[in-house]
Parts: sequence; C-alpha cells; structure tokens
Amino acid sequence: GVGIALTGSGSAVPAGLLNNDQLSQIVETSDEWIASRTGIRSRRLASSTESLASLAAQAGERAIAMAGLSAMDIDLIVLATSTPDDLFGTACLVQAELGASRAVAFDITAACSGFVFGLVTAAQFVRTGAYQTVLLIGADILSRWVDWGDRRTCVLFGDGAGAVVIQANECDRLLGFELRSDGTQNKYLNLAYQPQAKDLADQVAIGQGTFAPITMNGQEVYRFAVRRVPEVIEKALFRAEMTAQDVDWLLLHQANQRILDAVANRLNLPPEKVISNLAIYGNTSAASIPLALDEAVREGKIKPGDTLVTSGFGAGLTWGAAVFQW
Ligand code: ACO
Repeated sequence: GVGIALTGSGSAVPAGLLNNDQLSQIVETSDEWIASRTGIRSRRLASSTESLASLAAQAGERAIAMAGLSAMDIDLIVLATSTPDDLFGTACLVQAELGASRAVAFDITAACSGFVFGLVTAAQFVRTGAYQTVLLIGADILSRWVDWGDRRTCVLFGDGAGAVVIQANECDRLLGFELRSDGTQNKYLNLAYQPQAKDLADQVAIGQGTFAPITMNGQEVYRFAVRRVPEVIEKALFRAEMTAQDVDWLLLHQANQRILDAVANRLNLPPEKVISNLAIYGNTSAASIPLALDEAVREGKIKPGDTLVTSGFGAGLTWGAAVFQW
C-alpha cells in the first residue's frame, strides 16, 4: 500500500506582540503570575485587518517551498481552524490566495486537536491513493474570540499558523495514531453559539448569529490534559509498536508548560526531548504543533529520520496522538 511522508513545514505569526507586562495594563495580572503558572511571557496578536486566510496561506507557502513543490502540485488543502474568516469555510480562501487551483479545499474543526485530527484525515486520502499531495494547515486567531476582560483566559492565547506538506511515499512514516472525543465535557471549554431571539412575525422567533467569548474551567481542562494525553500517547505508541523510549521528540500542543512537564514526566522523557515555544507564542490552538514543528526543523533540532510523538488536546473535548518520522 501507499504510505505518507511529511516533506515540508512552514509557519507564520502576526507582527503584533503583547508581552505579559503590557497585558497587565489591560487586566489585573502580572508577568510573575502568568509565567509561573503557564510558562507564557508574550504572544503575537493579529490586527483587526489581518485575515486568518492570509496567515494560513503564508505558512502554507513556506511549507510548499520547503517540499520543493509549487502550489499547482497540491491536490488537497485541509485547514484546521476554529476561528475562520468565513463560517462557511476558509480553506477555499487559502486555496485562492495560494493559487492552488487544482486543489480541493475544506476546513476541519477540532480546536487544539485540529492539527492531529487533520494529519490523520490527510493520511487517509493519501493511503487510499485518492490524492498524492496534501497541504495541511493549522491556523487560529483566538484573540478575536477571547474576552479581553477575563484574566483567567485572555492571558493564555496567541495567534499563528503552521503547515506541513504530506506526500505519498513508499515507506509509511505515519507509524501510529489514536483520536478521541468526549462531548459530555464540552462545558469545560467552549466557544459556543449564543441564542439571541429575533422576532420575525407573530410567534416566530429565530436565532440571530452571535458567539460568546471563550469560556473555560481551567482546573478541569488541566486535569483532563494531564490524565488523557499520556494515555492517548501510549495508545499511539502501542500501535506503532514502540515505547516512549524510542521517541526523539515530544511535540505537544503548546497549552501550558506545566502540562508539558507533567506529560513528559509521566512518559519518563527528559526535558531535552520536549519541544516548547509557548513562552513566546502562548497557546495558538490548531497552529501550535505545526508552528513548533517548523521552528524546530528550521533550527536543525529535528533531523530527517527523527521519531516524533505529537499530541493535541482541547475543546470538544477532543484529544489525539500520532507517531511519525520526520
Ligand atoms: N492573573 C492573576 N491572577 C489570576 C489570573 C491571572 N491571569 N487568572 C486567575 N487568577 C487568580 C484567580 O482569580 C484565583 O484567585 P482567587 O483564588 O482569589 O479566586 C487564583 O488566581 C487561582 O486561580 P485558578 O484558576 O485556581 O488558577 P490555576 O492554578 O488553576 O491556574 C490556569 C489557572 C493557568 C488556567 C490552569 O488552570 C491551567 O493551565 N489550566 C489548563 C488551561 C489550558 O491549558 N487551557 C487550554 C487547553 S485547551 C486549548 O488549548 C483550547
């Protein structure tokens, strides 16, 4: 059968920078509180005129270039995002911006698990022989949906985009995966439609579009992550016929340094194997894994042939892990 290989990566972040000291002028918080509880020191924020599609396209363009391809080589664009420019779908806008006119394009929504869910989705299309070359992008502008008066959430998030090119390959480099969902815990972290009645005529009230800012129960989300992430990683490693000791890099969704440390500890992985960039970007949702991957690849940290285990986790609730060779 056909396998898959990841043949390029790219990323993009907006220019706007907000550090913890600046944030503490907006809400009652401090660099000390944020850094000690989360490891985050600053984040990038998209301006009101920047679009998700252009951030995603920039990341995609860089990944396509690293793979030595051009936009016309792309058969499929999968955009993992929870903060679309267009609720009808934003992947088509990315396709247009890239000039990837041969590609079919669609969005998938799985919050901070979006990249891992997208990787597995893309792999299925390639393994069946339907498509040869996929551009997978994880991009989010959560700053649009954060309540900037709520210090319990606004300090955590940042904006960004990351991408990989996935190509058909004789040797399959996606070695194992496991995906999970639990909608009964949706209440702990969501960005939900808020019913707002609009009267049309007698006895007819219809809903008017409004979304609430992000709501989160931090302690429940923390508990969920430290319990479920090691578990799902073990499952993915089992499917790959590996153990944590075979892994070169632990590439987790960048939510919180304490979560990264706790998961590494549970898997008995030393801090040197843990990829972390949340100090400068915060939690960029679906972008965080490919953004961290791309930086580590360009720094020469991740080398061809290295084995990575990645895990995304977040709203839905959703979580998942994948083992792959770079
Ligand atoms: N600055 C100062 N004080 C704050 C802040 C802040 N930014 N935020 C909360 N506090 C206060 C609270 O009001 C509370 O004060 P009180 O005791 O007087 O009421 C106190 O600090 C402790 O609050 P807790 O919520 O108990 O703080 P906790 O130690 O749980 O840390 C945190 C909060 C960092 C959010 C933690 O729960 C966490 O990391 N959870 C996981 C969240 C996460 O990663 N979410 C995203 C993952 S999924 C996704 O990516 C979408």
